[in-house]
Amino acid sequence: MDFTRLAAERHSVRRYQPGLDITDAELQAIFHLVQLSPSSFNLQHWRFVVVRDPARKHELRGLSFGQQQVEDCAAVVLVCGRLDAHEDAASLYAEASAELREKFVPMIAGVYAGQAGLQREEAIRSGALAAMSLMYAAKATGWDSGPMIGFDAARVGSLLELPENLLPVMMVTLGKALDGVQPARLYRRPLSEIVHLESAAGATLQDRPGA
Ligand SMILES: Cc1cc2nc3c(=O)[nH]c(=O)nc-3n(C[C@H](O)[C@H](O)[C@H](O)COP(=O)(O)O)c2cc1C
Repeated sequence: MDFTRLAAERHSVRRYQPGLDITDAELQAIFHLVQLSPSSFNLQHWRFVVVRDPARKHELRGLSFGQQQVEDCAAVVLVCGRLDAHEDAASLYAEASAELREKFVPMIAGVYAGQAGLQREEAIRSGALAAMSLMYAAKATGWDSGPMIGFDAARVGSLLELPENLLPVMMVTLGKALDGVQPARLYRRPLSEIVHLESAAGATLQDRPGA
């Protein structure tokens, strides 16, 4: 599926065919694409907890304001960001050239050490990019998805035994839309409202005629 179609056909799905399984091989196909996502200094802050067990999905639904898709989907993926990803710099750059290693390892420590706010921002940035990759990778391999932040992060973290260095960024449900029914595309603001040229006070980009 080319990207134009992929972007047009991805929707946030809330009504899934219940009882579908997603296999390890299918998850591998998805996550091998997701791991290609960009991250600052290539720190790859993301971690994922995949829940397929029906009883556990039922519990997650209870912690997600009862949202039905959490129980009906094939898998709930809790996308997390590591707050201390910078501490792995030396091992991440172990196989890089000496030039890169000597440049980046001290730079990463200098940028992040003791910077709790920045560590948190980076965990969320990388996690959010990975979540988007996850939704596109799912669509490209035949699965629908839905991003979610409507859940009790503290209680979900506790249920899924998240260590303290993992920040829950978003849930993404994976499954197949009920009867192949896709939700209608919701309103999108026009380019003339959202894209400014040269400065935030500059002229806006016009929409392509007929778009
Ligand atoms: C960070 C984030 C959190 C969201 N949380 C929820 C949620 O808890 N429940 C839900 O049904 N949809 C949730 N959504 C889906 C949005 O409602 C949806 O992306 C938006 O309405 C646009 O629709 P589309 O994704 O189908 O294009 C969330 C989306 C994002 C990006």
